[in-house]
Amino acid sequence: MRTVYSGLVDESLIGQTVTLFGWAHRRRDHGGVIFIDLRDREGIVQVVCDPDRPDVFATADKCRNEFCLKVVGLVRARPDGTKNDNLISGGVEVLCQELEILNPSMTPPFHLDDENLSETTRLTYCVLDLRRPQMQKNLRLRYRTAMAFRKYLDSKGFIDIETPMLTRSTPEGARDYLVPSRVQDGCFYALPQSPQLFKQLLMMAGFDRYYQIVKCFRDEDLRADRQPEFTQVDIETSFLSMDEIRAIMEDLVRTVFKEVLDVDLGTYPVMSYDEAMAKYGSDKPDLRVNLQLVEVTDIVAESQFKVFSGVKSLHNGMVVALRVPGAASMPRSEIDAYTEYVKIYGAKGLAYIKVNELARGREGLQSPIVKNLSDDELNAILERTGAQDGDVIFFGADKAKIVWDSLGALRLKIGHSEFGKKTGLFTPGWRPLWVVNFPMFEYAEEDQRWVSCHHPFTCPVDGDEDKLVTDPEHCYAKAYDMVLNGWEIGGGSVRIHREDVQEKVFEALKIGPEERRQKFGFLLDALQFGAPPHGGIAFGLDRIATMMCGADSIRDVIAFPKTQRAQCLLTQAPSPVDEKQLRELHIRLRNEPKKDHDIAGQ
Ligand code: AMO
Ligand code: AMP
Repeated sequence: MRTVYSGLVDESLIGQTVTLFGWAHRRRDHGGVIFIDLRDREGIVQVVCDPDRPDVFATADKCRNEFCLKVVGLVRARPDGTKNDNLISGGVEVLCQELEILNPSMTPPFHLDDENLSETTRLTYCVLDLRRPQMQKNLRLRYRTAMAFRKYLDSKGFIDIETPMLTRSTPEGARDYLVPSRVQDGCFYALPQSPQLFKQLLMMAGFDRYYQIVKCFRDEDLRADRQPEFTQVDIETSFLSMDEIRAIMEDLVRTVFKEVLDVDLGTYPVMSYDEAMAKYGSDKPDLRVNLQLVEVTDIVAESQFKVFSGVKSLHNGMVVALRVPGAASMPRSEIDAYTEYVKIYGAKGLAYIKVNELARGREGLQSPIVKNLSDDELNAILERTGAQDGDVIFFGADKAKIVWDSLGALRLKIGHSEFGKKTGLFTPGWRPLWVVNFPMFEYAEEDQRWVSCHHPFTCPVDGDEDKLVTDPEHCYAKAYDMVLNGWEIGGGSVRIHREDVQEKVFEALKIGPEERRQKFGFLLDALQFGAPPHGGIAFGLDRIATMMCGADSIRDVIAFPKTQRAQCLLTQAPSPVDEKQLRELHIRLRNEPKKDHDIAGQ
């Protein structure tokens, strides 16, 4: 049996014989002595194989990287000058007395220390990738995070209740993953996009405080912070106000960060959705970036510069400025690159004013647009933006969504750039906040109808119930997001607990009576049996773990993640199935499956 993990062998064990199990991380032949860095989940220890033990030496000679080994040996201090302060075991080594190859390994396709592996290589050889110390560290930190969530929730009386995976479509806004039914010809289950309706039903069933660490499935376009299956810490409570729910959830995440990282997140600022959009162009502002947007629509409303005054004719048209201190030293090419960048977000251009010297008035400004602006307009813009010598003021003029998306993205781009970091536009650290008071609905242009911003069970703010059908654009919701360093790490709301209000929301969403009955009849019925006021939240565990690990992608904290194309390169899922299986499921394919089902390397 193992007496200690390799990575934990330290000075306290000097003089003792230890039994270790692990993998040969590296083997070095130093002419006469063979060193093996033995690795297990806790780290690495140096094993020394001397020629004066011929059996050990002969075995060590055969060892190669990633061989699985058993080592029995004596712990001794490393000679002076050979200590490694970066390892727990860096002051010691194990003089090998017994060496057994438990299993050899083929030559691995890469060395585990290689940090420049392509995503395809990593995901194809997922098992070897998971052996890498960084992945071992990430998954253990993820585990500790999940445990910290459980511990806190348990201590506050929340209980873990499992909900079905084979269920019917839930309206979280993404596409469903469907599972065909063999028994019910032509019918499908949907995998849950979240346990939203079940947790509400649990409140109606009197469970009062529920949580679950649960897989959710969403067929949506994948990005660095999205996977088709991901994990939520899903929570619901009864009889608490929105402020009370937020207070518990804030304390929960604060406690988790303190426990896992020893980081104090402090008290979160609370910002309305409207303020977040106006100042940051985003409902998940990264507060580490010290730049803000300023609206100037009113100043240029009558301007002869038609790009600016013309926004009047657009629905929600606006002109917004972003002042970047010190950016006048930027080369023209960089400004041109930003102009191209904002086009990704639909912007038609990126007007700017370089403020060289305020004291020289118009002469001190350098810009393709100043000739079109009056003195009054220019002065008002400079005053409102707080412009100083050496600044650049960028402008976006368009529909609100385009302006916010493009200038919000530009704000982040500049803040995170080398220039931003060098000139103090970025302050590293942890910057959490609540974003509250979301609109109830947003207009879906392609469908020409209103859709829920959160989901259709979200309660409107007090007083807005009567406007649901008549003025959906101006209804606000008791919804809240928890945001950390520009990532949405959790989102929730107070739910509707009255059937009449729920019916009105369905009406606003143009979900007719028949569809309501068919899709949500079970919820509407349960609402009629004394449903308690209730609300909750769901946290994205993968995202939280990613940020805690300092990783770039949530794939780095998931054991067997999928590619951007929702494929598992390891198991080659999704894959074609037998004709017999399809027949049992009453399915005939429209197209032949691809003959060559080789998805690796794509
Ligand atoms: P929402 O859709 O905001 O709310 O999801 C909650 C949190 O889950 C995370 N998340 C994701 N993480 C990784 N990959 C994805 N594809 C993905 N989608 C979402 C985010 C997000 O904040 N039922 C509601 C919650 C509620 O109202 O209580 C819901 O699912 O961090
Ligand atoms: P134009 O008169 O079209 O040549 O544009 C003059 C300046 O305004 C250029 O710097 C453009 O990049 C910029 N511009 C054009 N359209 C917009 C817009 N919708 N928002 C912001 N700037 C714009």
